[in-house]
Amino acid sequence: MSYDRPMATETTTTKSMADIVALCKRRGFVYPASEIYGGINGFWDYGPLGVELKNNLRDAWWQEMVRCPPTGPDGELLDIVGLDSSIIQNPRTWEASGHVAGFNDPMVDCRESKSRYRADQLLVFPVADCWFAFVENDDASEAGARKKADKYLHKPGVQPGEERDPEPLTDLLDRDPAALARVVGPDTKKPGTLTEPRDFNLMFESHTGAVKDDANKVYLRPETAQGIFLNHKNVVDTMRVRIPFGIAQIGKAFRNEVTPRNFIYRSREFEQMEMEWFCHPDEARTWFEFWQQRRLWWWKSMGLTDENLQIRVHETDELSHYARAGAGTVDIEYRFPFTAPGFAELEGIAHRTDFDLTAHQEHSKVKLQYFDQQRNERYMPHVIEPAAGLTRGLLAVICEAYTPDPSRPSKVFLKFHPRLAPIQAAIFPLVAKDGMPEAAERLYQELRARYTCQFDVKQNIGKRYARMDEAGTPYCFTIDGQTLEDQTVTVRNRDDAQQQRIGIDTVKSFLADRIKA
Ligand code: GAP
Repeated sequence: MSYDRPMATETTTTKSMADIVALCKRRGFVYPASEIYGGINGFWDYGPLGVELKNNLRDAWWQEMVRCPPTGPDGELLDIVGLDSSIIQNPRTWEASGHVAGFNDPMVDCRESKSRYRADQLLVFPVADCWFAFVENDDASEAGARKKADKYLHKPGVQPGEERDPEPLTDLLDRDPAALARVVGPDTKKPGTLTEPRDFNLMFESHTGAVKDDANKVYLRPETAQGIFLNHKNVVDTMRVRIPFGIAQIGKAFRNEVTPRNFIYRSREFEQMEMEWFCHPDEARTWFEFWQQRRLWWWKSMGLTDENLQIRVHETDELSHYARAGAGTVDIEYRFPFTAPGFAELEGIAHRTDFDLTAHQEHSKVKLQYFDQQRNERYMPHVIEPAAGLTRGLLAVICEAYTPDPSRPSKVFLKFHPRLAPIQAAIFPLVAKDGMPEAAERLYQELRARYTCQFDVKQNIGKRYARMDEAGTPYCFTIDGQTLEDQTVTVRNRDDAQQQRIGIDTVKSFLADRIKA
């Protein structure tokens, strides 16, 4: 499966997305799904190292949200419970939530090349009487459009016309719908082959039971959030929760994205980590602010650096259907190599108001209001939702960790936070003789019950260190001749490649101090 090379920028020259994708494949982080059949666009498989990394990120989120939630702005410990709801729910869920009517992207087809684009991601610039279109943030597509425009300009009798910066196709069509006939699509040379933008619903459909008719139509969930709203009453009735409290869920979500892009950044099957925080309407603003800061802090604690993170407030015209009535949405954005120097969404934090619970109450006719004993008041809670992508978060963590280093045999190492590293410790005998493999195996047996470890006897030690650099293993312990004499081992630190000697009986506490939950 091909990857669109990003625009060359300062950051991408040091962190090339194509190199990151190649490393992910080579070292077993991410493989294209069904690769032996040519792959399937928008679907990815997570290999042995990828699944460990993803599970570690997932567990860190669960620890932060459910097992050990933070203290709130008033100094009280927060109460958040977990949930694992079904991917397929009664289809009326998605009518009530607004997804059947409103979960659409504008789509444009090219009649000539049969390509499909998101209308809001096509940019156009004018040359003479034509407009040339290309896909936003895709340098190959832009270079192609510029080349075509240049060729057109050199035709006899063509006057250049006014020079203008590229603008969204949708803006051009709002101003002048007839201009579509003069737009040259990204993958064709003729003008007028693009269709008018039309709404395309992103939900995957399926059928339950043997009969494939409309009565049995169901949807794969496009967000994990709705399962939480459907179970809000169950949780209130069965758990001793009092507002404010949260319900958290991690799981797969599916969106039939028009243009899945940028490796695992936008895929059709992905994982979300969402928490719905139910609170009194008067306190929603305070919680909205609180969760923005706390979520930003958490991503930093996962190793993402300050300079690569930012909070961006949504403009009114980009708000989701559920947030339109609310006090807004912000995104925590990350500077991915394919957006640098710009940023792209990593997590959304929305004030969803009482939109969802009210909609489900209306559609189901089940009363979902909450009775607040302390206030002696019955009301529909407001919801603040921090909604993060697990697979997108994994990509951010990999991009951040990717560190080119020409001085090393591997030329690159992955600087994962030790807590997230897919292999936390490697145990090597220096050579496969003189009792070293046996001593190393004893240490390996001792450590593997608690840490993800790798025991490796093959190849020279330099090659083994290089493999661990590419896997992002923070510590390698080597058993050598001296170990057998004085019970010490060398520890090689991934980040500076320096070694030190420590007692073999202190290895466990050495790791415990550095790999803290
Ligand atoms: N419940 C709210 C909601 O789903 P969203 O902003 O559409 O909000 C939340 O999605 C997060 O899920 C995003 O910030 C992103 O990290 C992740 N996400 C959304 N669509 C995705 C896709 N097609 N591929 C990978 N991750 C995606």
